[in-house]
Amino acid sequence: MSPPVFTPTDGPLGAFVTGVNLSGRLEPGAAAAIHTALGEHGVLYFRGQEISREQHIAFAEAVAPIVINRFFTPVTGYPQIAEVRKEADQKLNIGGAWHADHSYDQIPATGSILAAKVLPPTGGDTLFASMYAAYDSLPAATQAHINELRALHSSRHVFGADAAHLTDPDNDQGGRYHNPNAATQDVWHPVVIRHPISGRRALYVNPDFTVQIDGLSETDSAELLDELFTHAQRPEHIYRFKWEPGSIAFWDNRATWHFAENDYHGHRRLMHRITLEGVALEGAERDSLA
Ligand code: SIN
Repeated sequence: MSPPVFTPTDGPLGAFVTGVNLSGRLEPGAAAAIHTALGEHGVLYFRGQEISREQHIAFAEAVAPIVINRFFTPVTGYPQIAEVRKEADQKLNIGGAWHADHSYDQIPATGSILAAKVLPPTGGDTLFASMYAAYDSLPAATQAHINELRALHSSRHVFGADAAHLTDPDNDQGGRYHNPNAATQDVWHPVVIRHPISGRRALYVNPDFTVQIDGLSETDSAELLDELFTHAQRPEHIYRFKWEPGSIAFWDNRATWHFAENDYHGHRRLMHRITLEGVALEGAERDSLA
């Protein structure tokens, strides 16, 4: 068999993958090729892959060990698979703010593999933003300023006991998240990382989970984060992925952000997500030692 083929999108990130059948065993070398391509392109898109839960798990495990998300309600009987669900009568969706999965962990997840199960008739796209492009397009002075900074990431305000889904009666996320007592840890990460696969610099702060920059006043930290978040969301850094039955998106959480559109009220959308174990992150300043 020939190796997988990676065809870049016409946008700033991502590639479509052909030449693999995810419902079977991967050819020797395919998992390693997919892992390398993930680091290069940031997101890999697959079409026409109707996979069972077991096949989803087997594909994930072929690339890296699975890390279980402790806040999403899992698919019954499959703790490895997080359910990303919005029912027809729900207002809010999961993932409707820019974020990188698990950045609140000491060792953030490598990536997430999201498989479409039930799609609305229209809408429900996922937007991806390249954090390579976001970093590369910053002014040199800003790059120099942020290269050695670190930032605090937290899950408390999203998943913890004081999170809106537990305290705000208008927030109907309840039932889709659980385990608020596990949202107790905060972690410092470099603001700019050296990507563990590609070796490229990537901006590593995100609007959902990054709450503070070390060494700056509260005001200066909020202003800098706001500037970086606004910059990263520029249209030239973003690709819009349109789901079809059998689509799978596999993204790298260190090189990208994602955002799930919530524009299909009155319809059900159900996705299955598996998250892969990561490695400790290194800051970009490692360059200066090279
Ligand atoms: C997520 O944020 O993990 C889900 C994205 C999506 O449902 O499109």
